[in-house]
Amino acid sequence: MTDKQPILLVRQIEELRNQVAAWKSEGLRVSLVPTMGALHDGHASLVKLALKDADRVVVSLFVNPKQFNDRTDLANYPRTEDADRDRLEDLGAHMLYAPVREEIYPEGFATSVVVEGPAIPLEGAHRPGHFAGVATVVCKLFNQVQPHSAVFGEKDFQQLAVLRRMVRDLDMAVEIIGGKTIREKDGLALSSRNERLSDDDRKKAAGLSQAMTNAVDAIEGGADIAGTLNRTQASILEAGFEKIDYLALVGAEDLQPMDERDRDGRLVAAAFLGGVRLIDNMPVKGPRR
Ligand code: PAF
Repeated sequence: MTDKQPILLVRQIEELRNQVAAWKSEGLRVSLVPTMGALHDGHASLVKLALKDADRVVVSLFVNPKQFNDRTDLANYPRTEDADRDRLEDLGAHMLYAPVREEIYPEGFATSVVVEGPAIPLEGAHRPGHFAGVATVVCKLFNQVQPHSAVFGEKDFQQLAVLRRMVRDLDMAVEIIGGKTIREKDGLALSSRNERLSDDDRKKAAGLSQAMTNAVDAIEGGADIAGTLNRTQASILEAGFEKIDYLALVGAEDLQPMDERDRDGRLVAAAFLGGVRLIDNMPVKGPRR
């Protein structure tokens, strides 16, 4: 039996920097998994990817106020640090970096990282300021931790594209690794927001991924894209969702709407169920030549 190593809990940049510098001086590779806590099996899969990639894994936990454009959403965001810490220790992560707010946003903080291009449509259009909040905090975490790699989930597909673009455009020396979406048995993508669904809505929630799976099959089978999207919107509403922010087929790289299946795409959606906003995405294969 191997002894489980206690996870380091760090809240200040200085201690973080000293520890990471010590690891690097031993020639160890460091990976970062940024999170906002309320960890589930989706996060666990990202930590496992980081452990495969690197010798030391830092998981950050910071509920970032700048990426919430809805105060109630921020107030309701689950906070479960003790359980998160136990879970990370079981997984074998080496450090939980849970900074105090002043370490991220000190008094007078006045800088923002704004990505355009892939950040403009979809979530960007429906949640003004969201991606500037994400890019700013992730840029800060990269500067603070200085990891060799960082792991993000494909569940937030647009976020992954935006962060890849930020790293490329600003020449950040961090390798970005994307982790596959983890789903419940009925197809619902794991998300910290699922906790807020009532029992009844939880049963209805899989209607989103089921309608999207049917749409992917139809589009890959040659069905007309606009007609399929219309029928899929109707199925999502019939499943009990009250409002759809968007359902679109977009280019997998540029996130621009596709009206024909001429390249690899991504079917992306955001919809409300019982006041909870759920997002999902699935790959759509382009024609194989
Ligand atoms: O995906 C998330 O949980 C957050 O957007 C992130 C990347 C941790 C930044 O706050």
